[in-house]
Amino acid sequence: MKSKVSVIGSGFVGAMTAQRITEKNLADVALIDIIEGIPQGKALDISQSCTLEGFDAAITGTNDFSDIRGSSIVVITAGFPRTPGMTREDLVLKNGTVIRSVTEKIREYAPECIIITVTNPLDVMTHLAWKVSGFHEHRVMGMGGVLDTARYKYFLARELDVSIKDIDALVLGSHGDTMVPIAGYTTVKGVPVSQFMNKDRLDAIIERTKKGGAEIVQLLRSGSAWHAPSASIVAMVEAILRDSKRVMPVSAYLRGEYGIVDVHIGVPVKLGSSGVEEIFEIELTDEELAALRESADAIKETIGKLTIL
Ligand code: 2OP
Repeated sequence: MKSKVSVIGSGFVGAMTAQRITEKNLADVALIDIIEGIPQGKALDISQSCTLEGFDAAITGTNDFSDIRGSSIVVITAGFPRTPGMTREDLVLKNGTVIRSVTEKIREYAPECIIITVTNPLDVMTHLAWKVSGFHEHRVMGMGGVLDTARYKYFLARELDVSIKDIDALVLGSHGDTMVPIAGYTTVKGVPVSQFMNKDRLDAIIERTKKGGAEIVQLLRSGSAWHAPSASIVAMVEAILRDSKRVMPVSAYLRGEYGIVDVHIGVPVKLGSSGVEEIFEIELTDEELAALRESADAIKETIGKLTIL
């Protein structure tokens, strides 16, 4: 039997996620939105590409949250995107209300599912979804580090003019301005990146990575990125559905790992059919550890602004 994945929010990120899942034949998809007609129209459009793209996964567009019943995974993309000049944190109150009501529906109709939060500010919304759902912490996670790492690797590959396949890297911390790209684990074919470029060039790439989402918001003027975000979500969905035990940086709940407690933040985890199956506490330099803790403090400060929690 095919798995089912529900995607809440049929904007660019949600619709593209639904399209990627069906095109890969990973699962049947329910695309949900409160706006009438949009999820239905987009689902019908994606369905009609099945003969050309050769998939038989089914996709349904609906305004009825009860249609998420039976989902193994529910992806939350609903909420307001950034506009130029806005930080992800500026969205906290508006999107907090959305996440709260969406998560209440998830708790009601898909109590056994795994939740992947995408709405910004990512780590804070993930924490909120976890609290409201009452789910085990292994079943609620946020997509941030996979995207930030993808951007970082892309910039490195272009700068060095080498294949993206030979770059390995890890970006931890918040999916925000305090994200922490880990220079020590940035390698080209296993060789430390410091042997390929000097610190100034690497620092410039790290800076560009931190502003990777904002650079696109600035170019688009209205809305934010969706191609790389949806690809990142689907990488996580695939790891969970296939129980492939992939190691990815994911916003997960910490209970003292890295000296950080009671917050969701990007750390390397093992992703499998139970969700976050293990959190890896890797060695960091004092400076990186301090940056990760600072990032956790920034997330906690934004959580503090969530009057609805
Ligand atoms: C981004 O970084 C949407 O937060 C997302 O593009």
